[in-house]
Amino acid sequence: MHLPSPRGSLSAILVDALRTARPVRTEPSLASSPEDAALALWMLHELSYAGFSDVDEAREWQPDLLRLRHDLESELEDRLRARFPGAPESASGDLVTAFFDYVESHEGPSVASHVHTDATEEQAIELLRWRSVYHLKEADPSSFVLARLPRAARAALAELLYDEYGAGRPERLHSQLFAEALRSVGLDPDGRYVDEVPSEVLEMNNAVSMFGFQRRLRGAAMGHLAAFECTSSVPARRLAQGFQRLELPQPVIDYYTEHVVADAVHEQVAVRHILLPLVEADPDQLEPVFLGAFTCLDQEARTSRVLLERWDVAA
Ligand SMILES: [Fe+2]
Ligand SMILES: [Fe+2]
Repeated sequence: MHLPSPRGSLSAILVDALRTARPVRTEPSLASSPEDAALALWMLHELSYAGFSDVDEAREWQPDLLRLRHDLESELEDRLRARFPGAPESASGDLVTAFFDYVESHEGPSVASHVHTDATEEQAIELLRWRSVYHLKEADPSSFVLARLPRAARAALAELLYDEYGAGRPERLHSQLFAEALRSVGLDPDGRYVDEVPSEVLEMNNAVSMFGFQRRLRGAAMGHLAAFECTSSVPARRLAQGFQRLELPQPVIDYYTEHVVADAVHEQVAVRHILLPLVEADPDQLEPVFLGAFTCLDQEARTSRVLLERWDVAA
């Protein structure tokens, strides 16, 4: 992947610095807009994933870039915490029931329902472009957390990731299934769509990366993962049927069909076998678990709203 196009002064300075190996003398306040700041943080995070083909990989640990990344993450975390109403009272009792209830009670607009019955092919393709930023890295943010979990939670996350990473078959990696889905509709499987997604999508990806990279936020990473899995199976079925209705190629339908069954299992693994032993071993992680879950649900709702508004659909 190449560096994306800048969206303001901060991302322009950063793109220039990454390309030329110049030191970065900048700070978050130089951002021209929230999306400028979000794109800058997205680029800095990408240095810790597959990186950019036009950037030296040694720059991942360059102190001035780490400083900027730290400051942008602090801003993001403050924003996420300001939105978060706190863990529900019931969470200190039966965590499993409290978590399922919490996710269940969260209401938000549904892009999947629209795709199921009404979306046009153009809208369906646009959804794939927006989702590509997330799905082409599917499971990668959680994999950074593996070594930081207590024993039982670690074993369960490894089991879940084994599925996400194709159960030993490279062609079955979920990110690869999504890349094939993109290819089948003539889209670029390498994720060139960062340039067109709104700041909500960038922020969604930045949050899940930050949770994955910061050990102190391991509970948030796992709460996010669990909420994601709990809200995936039913929409995945609607999306698969919607794409079928539109007669999109089989790899698109297969990607979502795979998640109907897989995520119905993953939600149980995530809540019962990851969150529960994590919080039992480390009660301080209870609040971050719900911060992560809330952020997942809230950001999904924000992104869906933007997309439905764009399509002129009442949310
Ligand atoms: Fe998956
Ligand atoms: Fe999953």
